Amino acid sequence: MTTVGIDAVEIWTGNLKLDLPGTFAPQKGEDPEKYTKGLGLNASSFPDSYEDIVTMGANAAHRLMERKGLEPDDVGRIDVATESAFDNSKPVSTYVAGCLEQVYEGDFHHANKGERKFACIAGTQSLDDAYNWIRAGRNRGRGAIVIATDTALYARGDAGEATQGAGAVAMYIAEDPDLVELSPEQGYGSADETDFLKPNQQFPSVDGKRSVQVYLARMREALQDFETVAGDVHPDDIAFIPFHTPFPGMVRKAGLLGYRYITRDTAIEEELAAEIGRQPREEAFDTEDDYHEALREYTDALKETDRYQQWYAETIDPTLTISREVGNWYTGSVHIARISAMKHALENGRDLTGETLLVGSYGSGAQAEIHAETVCECWDEEIEALNADEQLAARYDMSWEDYEEVHDAHNHEMDVDVEEFTTPEEEFVFDGWGRMGERKYRYVE
Ligand code: CAA
Repeated sequence: MTTVGIDAVEIWTGNLKLDLPGTFAPQKGEDPEKYTKGLGLNASSFPDSYEDIVTMGANAAHRLMERKGLEPDDVGRIDVATESAFDNSKPVSTYVAGCLEQVYEGDFHHANKGERKFACIAGTQSLDDAYNWIRAGRNRGRGAIVIATDTALYARGDAGEATQGAGAVAMYIAEDPDLVELSPEQGYGSADETDFLKPNQQFPSVDGKRSVQVYLARMREALQDFETVAGDVHPDDIAFIPFHTPFPGMVRKAGLLGYRYITRDTAIEEELAAEIGRQPREEAFDTEDDYHEALREYTDALKETDRYQQWYAETIDPTLTISREVGNWYTGSVHIARISAMKHALENGRDLTGETLLVGSYGSGAQAEIHAETVCECWDEEIEALNADEQLAARYDMSWEDYEEVHDAHNHEMDVDVEEFTTPEEEFVFDGWGRMGERKYRYVE
């Protein structure tokens, strides 16, 4: 069977940065460690006034095409996943194709274009669509560009304001990929939930505390469902688990519950029993409340064990490095977690070839999906080619006054005109409005 997966990946961060402990915390009258230790974030990436979901997506895709030597004729599909769209009819992928056609000889008239929406999980769903299209043999030898792009901003004063971010991930999905091969097995946890939504508004309505519980519940269902098709997951078989990362503190919770779940009925549970006892079994309790209380106590004890902490440090923590510096990229977030982990392996001289990643995606509203990926032989060349560190270091560090000025320029309901803080170079920029209210873009040399 032909292998299908992610051949290459590129990121594009918003060109501005908000320092959370240094700039945000003092204005909120909060301890900086709430951000660095509690939420696990140092900074948010932020779009300059000439940036939006199209520019960031097109810039990431352009880098991807240039690096892989792709021409429009190699691309049979362009899908954009976003929850920050500005048009209910014309998809963002048409704007991205329009941008790319400014810098390539050929065009994308032959390419199927679409836009995927299911909160943050839409990036992974677009990946699945591309995978299925190739596996169905409808791709005529071409690959798909999948772009996850968002301006993940919250209303001023919302608890989510600390977790903002903006950026895009572009991926090329193809046969015989260089980066990772996707598993055909998937597990889902999906339910009608009201935790985070944007009813025709750009800044979300969020029930933050509930959203955390919904994330964990759906992720657990997805893992259970995955095991029914792929067999039991064992911690020793997995190199990294990139989770959707709205903020690293969320993944700290997911990692702990995931470990408890996958070590149940294993030798690891037995080995830990001398220290913290065996995991509570529901049948041993008179009431559900007593069982849940016992589970909580076990989980608290598990978190303190050396065995768990070592597993977390090796398997989960490396997925969070980029997220700590950029915040939430919504649809792109799980995909930067993958990059983060692989970058960590490269920097530490670890050969990942043939190893397994377990990828946990999530979208509010709500749905989680788990699938596995096998790392391909040329993964190191792909990861080495990224310039993530340079992009992050080049961002303009906003003062509080800058932040107050630019924040609402990215709310579609408000017409806020703000001077740019940075000078665009070799990138697509927003260039004003057309006669039908469409957005215009140009490439700056
Ligand atoms: N030192 C160390 N830690 C501190 C601290 C300090 N001085 N002060 C607080 N903390 C810790 C808290 O104990 C807490 O950690 P635990 O959850 O492990 O206990 C953490 O910092 C955050 O503190 P609060 O819970 O008090 O923070 P908050 O209430 O202001 O905001 C939030 C938290 C509700 C999640 C908010 O960030 C939010 O609404 N975010 C947006 C929604 C979101 O991201 N939800 C995640 C799941 S939904 C999803 O994933 C989809 C998506 O992308 C949006």
